[in-house]
Amino acid sequence: MRKLRGLVALGAAVMFSAGAGQAAERVSDFSLIDHEGRFHQLSRYADHEAVVLFSHLPGDRDSRRALATFNELAGEYAGARVAFFVLDASGETDKSALGGIAERSELAIPILMDDTGLVAAELGFSRAAEVAILDPERRESLFHGVINNRFAAEDRSRRASEHYAAEALEQLLSGIRSEVSGLASGASAIDFASAAEVSYHEDVVPILERRCLSCHTEGGIAPFAMSDHQTVRGWSPMIREVLYTKRMPPGQIDNDYIHDFKDVSHITIDETRALVQWIDAGASFDGGEDPLPGLQPEPVKWSYGEPDMVLPIPPQQIPATGIQDYRHLTVPLPVEEDIWVRAVEFEAGDPTVLHHIIAFAYGPDGMNEFDVLNQGIGLGAYAPGNEVNTYPEGAGFPLMAGGGLFLQMHYTTSGRETVDASEVALYLWDEKPERVVYGGSAAELDIHIEPFTRMPMTATKTFREDVYLSMLGPHMHYRGHDARFRLIYPDGESAEILNVPNYQFNWQKTYDFKEPLFVPAGSQLEFSGTFDNTGMNPFNPDASQTLSWGEQTWQEMFFGFFRYVEAETSE
Ligand code: HEC
Repeated sequence: MRKLRGLVALGAAVMFSAGAGQAAERVSDFSLIDHEGRFHQLSRYADHEAVVLFSHLPGDRDSRRALATFNELAGEYAGARVAFFVLDASGETDKSALGGIAERSELAIPILMDDTGLVAAELGFSRAAEVAILDPERRESLFHGVINNRFAAEDRSRRASEHYAAEALEQLLSGIRSEVSGLASGASAIDFASAAEVSYHEDVVPILERRCLSCHTEGGIAPFAMSDHQTVRGWSPMIREVLYTKRMPPGQIDNDYIHDFKDVSHITIDETRALVQWIDAGASFDGGEDPLPGLQPEPVKWSYGEPDMVLPIPPQQIPATGIQDYRHLTVPLPVEEDIWVRAVEFEAGDPTVLHHIIAFAYGPDGMNEFDVLNQGIGLGAYAPGNEVNTYPEGAGFPLMAGGGLFLQMHYTTSGRETVDASEVALYLWDEKPERVVYGGSAAELDIHIEPFTRMPMTATKTFREDVYLSMLGPHMHYRGHDARFRLIYPDGESAEILNVPNYQFNWQKTYDFKEPLFVPAGSQLEFSGTFDNTGMNPFNPDASQTLSWGEQTWQEMFFGFFRYVEAETSE
C-alpha cells in the first residue's frame, strides 16, 4: 500500500469544498461491461473500501496523461480492497478499440463502457480526467475532482503538487469520511447526448411494446403487467433500477452477440437512455388517450404454430412454500413408428412456479446416463422467455416408437399452493430429414469451490467431424457469474462466439444461432465461466459452503451445452 503523502497537502483545504455536514450523493447500483466483456456491478464491490473511477476520452491529451497517473495510483493500491476503473465517456462500444487503449497505456485495470452515458451523468462527470471515489456499500459518492492540480482548469501547474484523489483515498482508508471534492478538470468536455424531451406516446410506449410487453402483460411471465401509464409510472423507479443494473430485459448477453442469435431480449442504447430520461423527468403523461391498454398482446397458446402433437405433462401439486427437489417424469409417446421432431414448444401451466423443464428422449430400452450426456440439453428446454426450441434447416431430433420423453422439472414456490399442468408441443417432419440433431456439452464434473471465493473454470470438447453448431446453453447454478464460449480452430486461431457476462441461473436461457455456425473437424469448443461463492453474489444462498458437483441448485454444475448437426448428410 502507498505511503501517506505529506500531510501538508491535506491542510490545503481550499482545494476541497469540504463537505462537512453535507450529505454524500447517492449513486445508482450501476452495472457496466468492460473492454474484455466482463460485467461489473457497483454493489458487487461492497466488500471493497472504495471504488475509484476515472473519466476517459480517447484522443484527449490531458485525459491520456492523467490516465497514466491514475494507473500508477491503482498500482500503488494493488492488494488493497480498492477497485479502480476507467470509465470510457466517449460512448465507444468497440471492445478492441478500448483494448488498444488499455494496451498502449499498459493499463492493469478494466475500461468500463458507459455506452448510454448514464453512469457518467449519474457520477457527475462533465469532463475527461475527473475522478470519482465511491463507497460501494452505501453507494455514495465521497470524492469528485481532478486527480491532481496539474489537470485542474484553474491551476494547470506543470508539475503536480496537490494530489487530491490520492489524499481523499488516504483519508477514507484511515477511516475519515471527509466528503471532500477536488477542483474541476480542464480536459475536454464529455459530449452527452442532448437530453431531448422524451414523449410517453412517441418514445416510451413503442419501446415498452418492442422490449417489455411480451412478458409484462396480463397472464405473462413477469410479475407485473405494463397495462397503462399509471402502472408504468408506479413501477418507474424500479424500471430505472433494472435498466441501470442490466437486469431487464433478461437477455444477459453482451450486446455484440445479440444479432447472432434468435429471440434474445435486449434493449438498445438509445432506448435505455430514453426510458431513463423519461423517468428522471417525472414519467409524465402527454395527455390524450393512453395507447398502452390497446397494445397488450393477445395471449397466443402455441406461438410456433399449430402443433402436430401435444403431450400433456402429468399435473404437479406445488405447495405454497419450501424448496422443491427436481422432479423426473416420463411421458410415453403415443406413436407406432419413429418420428422426427423439427421444433418443440412448451406451455407453462403455472408460470409463477414452473422454473424450468428439460426434455430428454428415451428409447424402447429406456435411458442411461451416457445417453443423457450425448443429448446435451435434450430435445428442448423451457425457461421463461425460452418456450420454443428449433433446429437447423432440414434437421430433426429422432423419437423412437416405444419410447418417450424424460422430463426434468424444476419448481419454485410462490407462497400460494397450486397445480401446474404444463404441456409439450411437438412439430414433426413428414419423413426422415437429411440431418440428425445431436447434443453435447463441454463439462467439468470435478467441481470444488471454497467458501467466500470466486473461481474461474474451463471445459472443452473436441469435434471429430465437420459440424454446424446451432445452439449454445451455459449452465451453472446460483454461483454462476458469467459464461463464454470460444472456438479454437485446428490451425490454432480462436474466436469468441458467445459472451454471457451477466449469467442468471433463474433464466435457463439457451441461445439458438440464426445461422448455424460451421465448425471444422478438430476444432475445440471451450466453455469458460466464473463462480462467485462470495456474499457479494445476491443469488448465493450461503457463501460459507464448500461446493461440489450436484443436481440441486445449492450445489454446482458446469455445463456448456450445445446442439449441432453433421455437415455431411447421410444420403
Ligand atoms: C422475456 C420476458 C421479459 C422481458 C422481455 C422483460 N421482462 Fe421484466 N421481468 C420478467 C420477469 C420474469 C421478472 C421477474 C423475475 C426477475 O426479476 O428476474 C421481471 C422483472 C422485472 C422488474 C422487477 C420487478 C420486481 O419486483 O423486482 C422490472 C422493473 C422489469 N421487469 C422491467 C422490465 C422492463 C422495463 C422491460 C423492457 C425494457 C422488461 N422488464 C422486459 C420478464 C421480462
